[in-house]
This record gives sequence, C-alpha cells and structure tokens, in this order.
Amino acid sequence: MMDRMAAHDRDDAISVAGLRKAYGAHEAVAGVDFAVARGEVFGLLGPNGAGKTTTVEILEGHRERSAGEVRVLGFDPGERSRELRSRIGIVLQSTGMYRHLTVREAVAYFATFYPRPRDVDATIALAGLAEKAGARTRTLSGGQVRRLDFALALIGDPELVFLDEPTTGFDPVARRAAWETIRSLRDLGKTVLLTTHYLDEAQALADRVAIIKDGRIVAEGPPAELGVDAATRYRIRWRAADGALEERVTADPTELLAELTADALARGERLEELSVTRPSLEEVYLELTAEADVATEVVA
Ligand SMILES: Nc1ncnc2c1ncn2[C@@H]1O[C@H](COP(=O)(O)OP(=O)(O)OP(=O)(O)O)[C@@H](O)[C@H]1O
Ligand SMILES: [Mg+2]
Repeated sequence: MMDRMAAHDRDDAISVAGLRKAYGAHEAVAGVDFAVARGEVFGLLGPNGAGKTTTVEILEGHRERSAGEVRVLGFDPGERSRELRSRIGIVLQSTGMYRHLTVREAVAYFATFYPRPRDVDATIALAGLAEKAGARTRTLSGGQVRRLDFALALIGDPELVFLDEPTTGFDPVARRAAWETIRSLRDLGKTVLLTTHYLDEAQALADRVAIIKDGRIVAEGPPAELGVDAATRYRIRWRAADGALEERVTADPTELLAELTADALARGERLEELSVTRPSLEEVYLELTAEADVATEVVA
C-alpha cells in the first residue's frame, strides 16, 4: 500500500490507493487507484451503480471507506478536518434543501461557512441564475436547482471542486454555460473531479478520465487516447467499386491513404465516401463497459 502511495506525487490534489467500500456483502468499490494532479479536470465515468458517487463521497468526507489510502489536498478526508472542508466545494448528486430560502439567501448562507467566500451575486451570475436570485428555491425548475447546487459549490472559492453529475437535467444551452464555468475554474488553477454520463462532456472538459465498472477502474487516460491502441488509432473507411464498405485501421493514416488512393487511381477507381476518423470516447466507453460485462459472465 505504501509503495503505491509513494508512486503518486505528494503534491497531487487527490490520491487514492486500494480504495474499497462494502455495503454489507456488496463491494461497491473494489480496489480503486488513481491520482488527480493540481489544476487538472478529472472525469469519473461508468454505468449506473458503478461506484462513482461512493468514491466521490468518500473523498468529500461524507462516507467512510472500508479500506485503502486516500489523500485530498494532503488530508485524510475521513478525519473531516475543518480546514479541508473550507478548501473544497461540492455538488452532490441530489440535493433539495433550504426550500424556503431565496437563491440569494441560500448562497449567502453558504458563504458564511467559508473563510474567504466569493461575492454572492457574482457567484449566482456565474452559475447562470441572476434572474432567479430573488426566487424561493422551491419554485426553481430541475435545471435551475442544479445551477443553484453549482453556485453553492463555488461560493467558498474552493481549490478543489467535486461535481457529481453537475449538468444532469440541464438544457443544451445551460450545459454549454456550465462547461464554460468549469473551464474557467481550470483557468483559475482549480482542480475539478467530476462524474458524468455525458461522454461529450467528459471529452470536452476532462484532461483525464477513468472508466469505473463494478467498483473497478477498467480504463484511465486522456479522453482522446483512452483504451485506444496506437496501432489502431485511425480508421479509414470507403465504399469499394463493388459497393462493399471497406475499413482499415492504422497508426499512420498519411501513409495508408497514399497507398490506398494510389492503388485506386491505378485501377481507374475512386474511393467513394472516403473518411478518416478516430473512435469517439462514446465508442470506446461502450466497448470497454461491454467487454467488462462479458468478462464477468465468463468468470461467473
Ligand atoms: N448507502 C448505501 N447502502 C447500500 N448500498 C449502497 C449505498 N449507496 C450505494 N450503494 C450501492 O453501491 C453501488 C454503487 O453506488 P453509487 O451510488 O456509488 O453508483 P454510481 O456509480 O454513482 O451510479 P449512478 O451513475 O447511478 O449515480 C450500487 O450498487 C448501489 O446500490
Ligand atoms: Mg452516482
């Protein structure tokens, strides 16, 4: 265990080694290791019930772990230190408290918990809720409640922000606005750990992602490189003269394209519908999570 911790940079915002969490006989987190560097946006992806929220809540200090080493900004979150709490911001997967307060009152109330809060109205505006600042939170729509959650996470001007499905229920415009907010957090040097089921969101925002399945990480890396072997990174497709769809994979599309087009021209043909693509994160995700399913069935 210590060796694995030593392998992580001491200055990482988050480091996790051998993390386990059992609910009775069910092991929801079954040995997870990862590290998040300061200033990084890290995405946790995975199917419903994979163990994402459990992992995030352990890092937030909201759940006890069964085993493993965890460091958040140098602290053990299990010790629930006041200093750590003042340096992190949290969007929970589900909230809905303070229904009788207005948006501004709720944000101002949260501001009192932190030593150096951001400006209340500026934070409400950053979350895209300026028009609803005077509205009681119980009158907000689902997406607006989520924006309020966002404002509450940012009001303390945290170094590290946990966002558990921050944009679920957002309309497309609000989602893009939230992405801008998350990007501006990164520009400010903040660290962000987010979970999401929107793979385009992970691809757009995360420097690195981990895919978690049945409590284990099945792949980890920058979204563009995840689970993709360099030798098969590019896919070239075209329709052959006989109408069949042809496909080749390669590490070097320049060379392969030159060969394919030269051969076609020599035959007096065109490569109809020619395309060069890289697998999207969604394709990789579906493949990896499906493979894990098959593996489980084989073992069982
Ligand atoms: N308090 C609890 N008591 C018992 N089991 C729990 C508890 N919380 C979560 N679980 C179980 O642990 C597993 C992981 O749950 P978790 O909420 O971490 O998943 P998740 O990856 O966040 O899923 P989702 O994408 O649906 O939010 C699930 O099987 C869930 O039923
Ligand atoms: Mg969850």
